[in-house]
Amino acid sequence: MSGFPWFDYCNTKLHVESVQLDAIAREFGTPCYVYSRAALIAAYTEFDAAFSGRDHLVCYAVKANSNLAILNLFARLGSGFDIVSGGELHRVLKAGGDPQKIVFSGVGKQPAEMRAALAAGIFCFNVESEAELVVLDRVAGGMNKTAPVSLRVNPDVDAKTHPYISTGLKENKFGIAFDEAEKLYASSEKFANVRITGLDCHIGSQLTELGPFIETCGRVLDLLNRLETRGLQIDHLDLGGGLGIRYSGENPPPVGDYVTTLCKEIGHRRQRILIEPGRALVGNAGILLTRVEYLKHTSYRDFAIVDAAMNDLTRPALYDAYHEILPIMKNKGNGKTFQIVGPVCETSDFLGHDRKLALSQGDLLAIMSAGAYGMSMSSNYNSRPRAAEVMVDGNRTYLIRERESVEQLIAGEKILP
Ligand code: LLP
Repeated sequence: MSGFPWFDYCNTKLHVESVQLDAIAREFGTPCYVYSRAALIAAYTEFDAAFSGRDHLVCYAVKANSNLAILNLFARLGSGFDIVSGGELHRVLKAGGDPQKIVFSGVGKQPAEMRAALAAGIFCFNVESEAELVVLDRVAGGMNKTAPVSLRVNPDVDAKTHPYISTGLKENKFGIAFDEAEKLYASSEKFANVRITGLDCHIGSQLTELGPFIETCGRVLDLLNRLETRGLQIDHLDLGGGLGIRYSGENPPPVGDYVTTLCKEIGHRRQRILIEPGRALVGNAGILLTRVEYLKHTSYRDFAIVDAAMNDLTRPALYDAYHEILPIMKNKGNGKTFQIVGPVCETSDFLGHDRKLALSQGDLLAIMSAGAYGMSMSSNYNSRPRAAEVMVDGNRTYLIRERESVEQLIAGEKILP
């Protein structure tokens, strides 16, 4: 057992659904992201079903993985989308997403992005500051439109996660300070071209306990009571994303418990509930397939230099994040302790430290739990073309993004006359 549903050993070879990963490496090369369609569907369905009859909208956080095939799959399942840029809006619309199910988050929306979202007719702007509200009001007025708005409040709750992915503390740049939010809501009438429709928050990512979600809910509901007492009509509550996944030893609450807890906290209120999961929908539905280029022994350590690097999967370098690393061929003996590193010229270019593996040159490895914030955070550092992406569906494989070419990398560059 690999410990990862949809990615498991059969006759000593690691498979994704019914397809051998070594066959994918032969056909599409490495490094290569490989996703399981069944895993994506199961994850979405689990969220959606857990609301059982309650008015809700699951808005997939596009930033976690923005491949068109994945967006299209979620759109077909009825998903909404949480976007943070004009680029993500473009992708969602291209992938067939329903504009009426799009929420637009982010602290730095530009007027052109606001215009594109207003033209598309999105469901809601999650506004993060008074200054942004002023600009949105002006932009909407200029288009003779009314912008539907939810204020993103910062509840000052400790998400107990990595500081780089914590967003709901008062020292973070996100959201409107809790004590200022009520005032801004109350003054919203002076913005003629916006219509307040909701209340929004998001406290961080990779949360593995329910406590911070419950605390946030309590604070948000307090504010909701105060707003309703003032006669403001709030039609939806957006509770953000953030539910964690198991990378290794973590034990995050099951999706069902998470959703049921949120619903219980909200009780019989009439508001529609929105959530914006990213990682929990795609994280464990994808892996990064890589090949060992060289084994290098020094008197101090053993290195396995693989063909994937920090430009392909930056989470280990950026957050010291742990990803399980599994051999594609099992049972090769006892092995030794390796540092799994890439070819990029940085000491932070590692995918895993101190991994006990039996490795030979040319072996294939799977970097697990790479479906979220893997490809979407990849770069071209060291002029490395980005990896291919493949989707497995049962016993079929589909190339959903071609490997980038070096020509594509330099296509927009110009030499001086
Ligand atoms: N909604 C908003 C407003 C967000 O800022 C985020 C993530 C999400 C939803 C989705 O959160 P999730 O369900 O995926 O936890 N690159 C980091 C994660 C950054 C998350 C930023 N915001 C990582 O690789 O761990």
